[in-house]
Amino acid sequence: MPSPAQLQKLKAAAKTAVGRAYAPYSRFHVGAAILTSSGKIYSGCNVENASYGLTNCAERTAIFNAVSAGEKKLKVECVAVFTPTKTPTAPCGACRQVIHEFGPNARVVSFCAGREEIDVTIGTLLPGAFGPADLA
Ligand code: THU
Repeated sequence: MPSPAQLQKLKAAAKTAVGRAYAPYSRFHVGAAILTSSGKIYSGCNVENASYGLTNCAERTAIFNAVSAGEKKLKVECVAVFTPTKTPTAPCGACRQVIHEFGPNARVVSFCAGREEIDVTIGTLLPGAFGPADLA
């Protein structure tokens, strides 16, 4: 579980990342940041495509960013998701699955321009998930 100071840093990283969103089609900008069990933070934004279905969400970009940076044994402790909207945005189904892969006990905190927050575990967002253990 992140300390209050770590959560603050994580949220700040997600807020910075939203500024890098490439979302000319939806104009819905998302920034995400993950906290690893070793205390590192990786961030990402949504990256859209003219072929809409190829869009990559901010949460998955952050996780893929960590893996591509060399986090071979990535364990995600917490995910922060920021949208500059009135209400917070929960991760989509695909992102829930990818978060679960690397953080089956992860905390997911979605926040926004307003005061409302979603603060839940990935188990709440994706109960009964299929995961690595099913292939063992
Ligand atoms: N999006 C994310 O980046 N994360 C989410 O959790 C929900 C949706 C993006 C995908 C697309 O670029 C835009 O938001 C609208 O769906």
